[in-house]
This record gives sequence, structure tokens and C-alpha cells, in this order.
Amino acid sequence: MHSPEVMTPSSADIILDKINVADIDLWDSQRFWPFFERLRRDDPVHYCADSAYGPYWSITSYEDILAIEANHRVFSSASKHGGVIIHDDLTMTFGNYVLEGIITMDPPRHQEQRAAVSGIVARPNLAHFETIIRERTARVFNNLPIDQTFDWVEMISVELTTQMLATLLDFPFEDRHMLTRWSNIATTEPGQGIIISQEQRIKEFKECLFYFTKLWRERKQKTDGFDLVSMLSQNPATAKMNPMNFLGNVLVLIVGGNDTTRNSMTGSLVAFQKFPEELEKLKKNPALLDNAVSEIIRWQTPIAHMRRTALEDFELRGKKIRKGDKVVMWYVSGNRDETIFKNADVFDIERENARRHLAFGFGIHRCMGRGLAELQLKIFLTELLKYIDRVEIMHEPDAQCQISCTDIQACLCG
Ligand code: HEM
Repeated sequence: MHSPEVMTPSSADIILDKINVADIDLWDSQRFWPFFERLRRDDPVHYCADSAYGPYWSITSYEDILAIEANHRVFSSASKHGGVIIHDDLTMTFGNYVLEGIITMDPPRHQEQRAAVSGIVARPNLAHFETIIRERTARVFNNLPIDQTFDWVEMISVELTTQMLATLLDFPFEDRHMLTRWSNIATTEPGQGIIISQEQRIKEFKECLFYFTKLWRERKQKTDGFDLVSMLSQNPATAKMNPMNFLGNVLVLIVGGNDTTRNSMTGSLVAFQKFPEELEKLKKNPALLDNAVSEIIRWQTPIAHMRRTALEDFELRGKKIRKGDKVVMWYVSGNRDETIFKNADVFDIERENARRHLAFGFGIHRCMGRGLAELQLKIFLTELLKYIDRVEIMHEPDAQCQISCTDIQACLCG
């Protein structure tokens, strides 16, 4: 959890030149906030010459993050240049192919492949999903043990989001735990919990590819399927993808549809424990639900960073970013930028501009599933209000994820 009271040292004591916000110890011990505060104030475009991930720039202010996101011609997301996480993606090559999905592509392929799948989360389909989500969410809450401690992450956050993902992919429901497993592998560094080596990671990804290739072959035959695998197998832009492109897209959809929303569901509980008056407010006034969803996502910021690689020299706030440099946009910091969000550390469901948060990114890669995520969270909160008067978290979530994850704050998932 991100408790300001356990933060040491204060931001004023931190030596600017030595700041490496990608230092995993800062995340494990939840001490990163004052470092970001110092960077936003005194060096918003900060160069770290030496880190476990090599040299990199940290972009920490709200406006600068928008500027980098909007400039996809200079700042590339492509796998071949390093991808979107601070840890270079290039290690994920299989034979001659680089693992790449829509999130790790630049135009024009990015738009072509995104358009192949984005229809699934278009407004009319969200209306269709709403009934299913409501039924399932109610059932999950209904089955919770009464007067007993239980694992919120497993029984609610993981269960609800995995069920949703299985629906989007029309994935065999009884095997849905495999989606959670592949998502966890995609966001964890070998040796840090669920997998012990890169070899194991590659082996399990091959199993994922094998499983989905079978689904792909089946779906290619039938033309009436409305699910992500059918869409990928039938759209001309994706029908002839190489296997690593297929796997890359499967993984971005699995991680996107699973990890992030689930972290918000867990994060909301943390928020309500720390700010119990907000739970009271919401109970009294359900009209605040939509804004509460945005505020949860802002306050928790499920994806802490995205990375880009400069394709040419670029000057920002007088700093010279060189061609080939790694540029990390820290959403977690942008969402606490006091010039945009007053009292940014406070969780306030009435915050006027909560919706301006950066947690979904910005520009051409802005989260494709954001409407669905908001819908899921709104229904989740509606059910939560029926069952919960007071939140008491019995055990701090264990830090499991690593800085190279796309979602550092998945550490909430324990
Ligand atoms: C609270 C929940 C979520 C958060 C915070 C979140 C956040 C993000 C972020 C930060 C990006 C990258 C944006 C950028 O690079 O500018 C992204 C991309 C993406 N997200 Fe989400 N996401 C969430 C839920 C979902 C869901 C439910 C789906 C399910 C379909 C999804 C699918 C995607 C896809 C496919 C992309 C790649 C888009 C592209 O590259 O064009 N996300 N998301």
C-alpha cells in the first residue's frame, strides 16, 4: 500500500542526481512517493545514468507525460526499439520473430490491428455486457463467506476480471484460470515469485500460443463468432499475423483485460480503508459512482509507467533527449501532480477533475478497454455498497511484482 506516513526520507532530503525511481527497493518498501514529488518539483525531466534497466529518462509531470504520449512520431512504442516497459522487450524474441502486439507497434500497423479488435468494446457491446457483468458480480458477492476473513484478491478481483476476459475471448470457461496464470507470467520477472527462469516463461508462453492457435483454427471456420479470437482470425489486417504477433496480441488483451481492472478492484478497498468517509459518502449518494470510479483509477494508477524510445533527438524543458534514449512516463506521478490535482494524495470521490487522470494513457495507444473497465468497476462498486459497511484489511498485500511489470502496483495483488 502507498502509505505516505511510512515514507522516509522527506522529498527535500533526497539528492537529486542520485534519484533512480526504478529502484525496486523503493517499490518493495513503498517509499517511492517523495522521490516522485522531488522530481516533479525540481527535475521533471530527469536522467538516470545507471539503473538495473540501463540509463533512462523519467518524465514525471502531468503536462510532460501528455506531450510525450501525443508525439508518437518521435517517441516509439515498437518492440523492435524496446517496447513499452522499462525492461527492454527485446529479450522476448523467438527465432526471427519479435513478440509484438498492438501496444508495442507504431503506425500504420498499430491502427490497422487495433481497429480489428476495438469493436468488441464499442458502446453497443458494452450495453450487451452490462447484464452479464451485473449477474456475475452479484453472484460472486453473494457467495462470499459471512463473518470470516477471506482473500479479496482471489475471490473477487481475480475472479471477476478473469470471468470477463474469458467472455471477451470466448475462452473455455472451465480453463479460465489459465488466463490469470499467463497474465501473471507476462507481468512478473523470472525469479521473482511465480516463475523461476526466462526458459520457464518462454515455455509457458508457448503453451499459451498453442492453446490459442487451436482456438484460432476453430474460429476461422465459423463466421458468426463475436469474440476477440474470431476478430483477430478474420480481419484482413490480422488474419495473416506471424505467431509472435498473434501471441503478442493475445497477451496484451489478456493483461489489459485482467491485471489492470483487478488492481483497481483491490485498490478501491485500500482506498476505502484509508478514507472511510468516502465510503460513507458513496453510500449516501450513489450518484457519485461514476466519479468514484475515476478517482479510484487516478488514486491507485494500476499501470505505474509506460516507456517509449526516442527515434530522434528531442529537447524537453531544456534537456536533450538523444535518439535511442529510453523515456519512461510515470503515470503514477502524473496522477499526483499538484498543479492538476489539488491535494493529490487524498482519495476524494467528489474531486472535480478526477476524470482527467492519466491512468489510461493518452494519444494513439490510449487504453482500448477503458469504457469496459469503468463499467466493470461501477457495477463492482454498486455491489460492494450493498455488502460492505466498513473495510478492514487483515493483511498487507505482499509485494510480488517487479519494476519491469507493466503494473508495478499489481503488488497490491499479493
Ligand atoms: C482500470 C483498468 C485499466 C487501466 C488502468 C488500463 C490502462 C492502460 C494503459 C496505460 C494503456 C497504454 C496506454 C498508452 O500507452 O498510452 C492501455 C492500453 C490498452 N488496454 Fe487498458 N487499461 C485498463 C483496462 C483494460 C481492459 C478491461 C481492456 C480490455 C479489453 C484493456 C485493453 C487494452 C488494450 C488492448 C491496450 C492497447 C491499446 C493500444 O496500444 O492501442 N485495458 N491500457
